[in-house]
Amino acid sequence: MKVDGIDYRSIWRHEDGQSVEIIDQTRLPYEFKVLRLTTVEHAAHAIRAMQVRGAPLIGATASCGVALAMQRDPSDANLVAAVEMLGATRPTAVNLRWALSGMRGLLEPLPADARGQAAWAHARGICDEDVDINKKIGQHGVALIHEIADRKPGRRVNVLTHCNAGWLATVDWGTATAPIYMAHAEGVDIHVWVDETRPRNQGALTAWELSQQGISHRYIADNAGGHLMQHGEVDIVITGTDRVTADGDVANKIGTYLKALAAHDNGIPFYVALPSPTIDWTVKDGLAEIPIEERDAAEVETVTGRTGNGGVATVTVTPSGSHAVNPAFDVTPARLVTGFITDHGIASATRGGLRALFPDKGG
Ligand code: MRU
Repeated sequence: MKVDGIDYRSIWRHEDGQSVEIIDQTRLPYEFKVLRLTTVEHAAHAIRAMQVRGAPLIGATASCGVALAMQRDPSDANLVAAVEMLGATRPTAVNLRWALSGMRGLLEPLPADARGQAAWAHARGICDEDVDINKKIGQHGVALIHEIADRKPGRRVNVLTHCNAGWLATVDWGTATAPIYMAHAEGVDIHVWVDETRPRNQGALTAWELSQQGISHRYIADNAGGHLMQHGEVDIVITGTDRVTADGDVANKIGTYLKALAAHDNGIPFYVALPSPTIDWTVKDGLAEIPIEERDAAEVETVTGRTGNGGVATVTVTPSGSHAVNPAFDVTPARLVTGFITDHGIASATRGGLRALFPDKGG
């Protein structure tokens, strides 16, 4: 996607061939800063500190981290250490495990001197595949937006989204945003309600993306969605996800469940956009089995923003003596989901819906 008219992906190999560049998402939307990762430790830090974030981008960055490790030391011991280090960064997005087990499965049988090049090629493949997958999600999802537009000629289509499932969360296009970008390009009058998404305010990343692409949007407090739904201001909710079970339970950014409840109560379609590597076919019960990341309470106790003089400052919002808890994700049960927008097409969220789209997984 374009930033100030220049095409970017969210991660790319540096022209030296030995390092990777990312956009430091902890600085957005205040500053556009590119960071260079030269070691697996850098890659692990970038994921843990959320300089990169979003399930598909976490997986892509981890694959590059393994390539960085293999170019320095392609031994068996270093392969295991790199996969373990990267695997311990964030627990919820299954794309991390998917990317790492793919890298390990490919590299382990190879002689050490072939691993560096093979690792870079596979990491490149994961990044390119993510772009293709998200384009397909966009192509399938845009049909839903056209259907709504056709039902209300002359009036805008209102989408509500939570967190950032945009191109910054993937390698390009985004998942939830891909249908939005395509609808906009195809001339649909589209408007996006962007949930702020406390405590990390990923909504500010979504708002920044939409501004860059010239898409009409408003940034709303997390508590505003239900009210907008009750007043007919939301036609469809589209979110991303960090892990979906075979039966359709959805782990996504904290607060997604509340949006799904409100959408259900108001008869508003609630869709989840996901690349196929985000489906965890091994988990039966999303609520019981998906690990939910618990992040530092300081993220809730503070707010970061731009000051009047253009600097960036963090201030504390809680009284001294009050402490926060900070679960970073929640699980929305399949019964509250209307459907899934995947790279294989649209699936209903009823039992067997996803399996029917992926027959090789037991459908
Ligand atoms: O904690 P984050 O910012 O990594 O969480 C991101 C999300 O929850 C996204 O909605 C999800 O990863 C889907 S990204 C296409």
